[in-house]
Amino acid sequence: MCGITGYIGSRNAYPIIINGLKRLEYRGYDSAGVMVFDGEQIQLSKTKGKVSDLEAITNIDESRKKGSIGIGHTRWATHGVPNDVNSHPHVSQSGELVIVHNGIIENYDTIRKELISRGYTFQSDTDTEVLVNLIEEVKKNENCKLGKAVQLALTNVIGAYAIAVFDKTRPNELVVARLGSPIAIGIGKDNEEFFVASDASPFIEFTRDAVYLEDGELAIVKRNKEIKVRKISNDKEVDAVIQELQLNLEQIEKGGYDHFMLKEIHEQPKAIIDTYRGRMLPNEGIIRMAGVDDHMSKFLHADRIIIVACGTSWHAGLVGEYLLEEMTRVPVEVEYASEFRYRNPIITPKDVVIAISQSGETADTLAAIKLAKSKGAFVFGICNVVGSSIARETHAGAYTHAGPEIGVASTKAFTTQITVLSLISLKLAQAKGTLAKSAVNNYLQTLQLIPSQIEKLLEIDDLVKEISYVYKDATNCLYLGRGFNFPVALEGALKLKEISYIHAEGYPAAEMKHGPIALIDENMPVFVIATNKGHYEKVVSNIQEIKSRSGKIIAIVTEGDVTVKEIADHVIEIPETEEAFTPLLTTIPLQLLSYHIAIMLGKNVDQPRNLAKSVTVE
Ligand code: G6P
Repeated sequence: MCGITGYIGSRNAYPIIINGLKRLEYRGYDSAGVMVFDGEQIQLSKTKGKVSDLEAITNIDESRKKGSIGIGHTRWATHGVPNDVNSHPHVSQSGELVIVHNGIIENYDTIRKELISRGYTFQSDTDTEVLVNLIEEVKKNENCKLGKAVQLALTNVIGAYAIAVFDKTRPNELVVARLGSPIAIGIGKDNEEFFVASDASPFIEFTRDAVYLEDGELAIVKRNKEIKVRKISNDKEVDAVIQELQLNLEQIEKGGYDHFMLKEIHEQPKAIIDTYRGRMLPNEGIIRMAGVDDHMSKFLHADRIIIVACGTSWHAGLVGEYLLEEMTRVPVEVEYASEFRYRNPIITPKDVVIAISQSGETADTLAAIKLAKSKGAFVFGICNVVGSSIARETHAGAYTHAGPEIGVASTKAFTTQITVLSLISLKLAQAKGTLAKSAVNNYLQTLQLIPSQIEKLLEIDDLVKEISYVYKDATNCLYLGRGFNFPVALEGALKLKEISYIHAEGYPAAEMKHGPIALIDENMPVFVIATNKGHYEKVVSNIQEIKSRSGKIIAIVTEGDVTVKEIADHVIEIPETEEAFTPLLTTIPLQLLSYHIAIMLGKNVDQPRNLAKSVTVE
């Protein structure tokens, strides 16, 4: 969580930092701050609120924007409520050191007490202020430069961090370090300038060359000098590996849409094509996935597959369970990464673990992977962000290639993750012989049709708007689905609560009678997925049960449906497809519905309250 930016070079640092923070706001947006150094004075501006609130402060006084070195921060609070004082950057007691930090220092209280006993006082409730003062204390005691002081201080720290530190007495350098939270350093031409950021988006218009620090590394970035990377544990120098960025500016802009979420919903046809492009030849029945091919024996000899993930990725994992079990007959378990990592799970070298994560940075998923690896399991990652921590930590994997997802409510990540899971399931079914060749070919041909079907489905926007208008003032909603569409019900409910703050629950349709049915009255909208395959008649019975208790029914049905149309209050039709692929279609109207309801309620859909896109803390 939290976004960090920094700049050192010959340009004015302020606009680069502020624009960078705006691109990183998906990581947190409850407070923001910037520090620039004009050669004499540290100019510090920070506030509760968004980057736009920060700009309102700096715009009053131009001197707050002067300087060619600086650091900035957009926060998602962990220690201390979001207020002006707890906002970053934090300054050390002497006023010389300034820090921005993403992560959590777990032993901050012990360090804080020790520092208090040595005469330090603290203004904020944050762990970050403790860290900057620890660095100051080490620097004073060891009489060393900033880089060494940061390295020594970090050896005393337990927790996760990405930090950028500035020292007024060394105005031509920034020190950057990471453990558990990502950080990238953009390298300008001839080392004339450097950019620091939680991901590369803040600096893609300036450079294509970047160094991604590995966990446990620290970088000293000096104006006009080569970047130096060292290991925090032993201070030994390591090679700075420069990578070429694949990202482009267009991908991270709204491209004519009002919100990133809407843009990303509409990008799904292309994103799914990008996901399966080069991976399948439907007519020949060929599926190529290097990460699976290279480790086929692990998959073929697996006793079971365990899927670990969080949030929407966990919902995609549930769809994966249905896909994998149906197609390959291998037992699958789906676990919340946060539970898995702490419940001493039974894992053996004969298990295959599939970790799913859009960002590739989710702390709990990362920890679950490390646990599974330590017990000898083979771990396969499904990530969107190329080069992310999870992509690097797993033995093998497959990228979703969905392009950057910036809206906090995940949309295209979900459908592309399901696409990858479909390909893996079909590939394994082929290798195991659990599906006939003709069935595999048929699935692939059907999958190939999904993008154009979504394209068509997106045209129902007006109908979805009408339905959204009717139910926008509901205080509770129920989402029901069965089989492959039970996870879609969960995801539909999650989307609604995330961005409109309406309480919503997803349930397997048949479970309704074991509790949620008590909630149903004329004020309760119930969204039911009732596609023509997969227990259709049973779902129709569930719909009747809702109807007889006066609940309002909004049904998602297959084109040409007759029965449900007669009972439901509203009907949204999806095109015909294989039951296994219906989640790729049924989820689309539910995404649109959440979007429109949230907009009608005046909510900030791209930056819903209290949430963050990338959760790099436990
Ligand atoms: C956060 C996001 C969700 C996301 C979840 C898992 O909660 O707000 O949209 O599904 O993290 O993130 P990941 O990047 O691991 O898929």
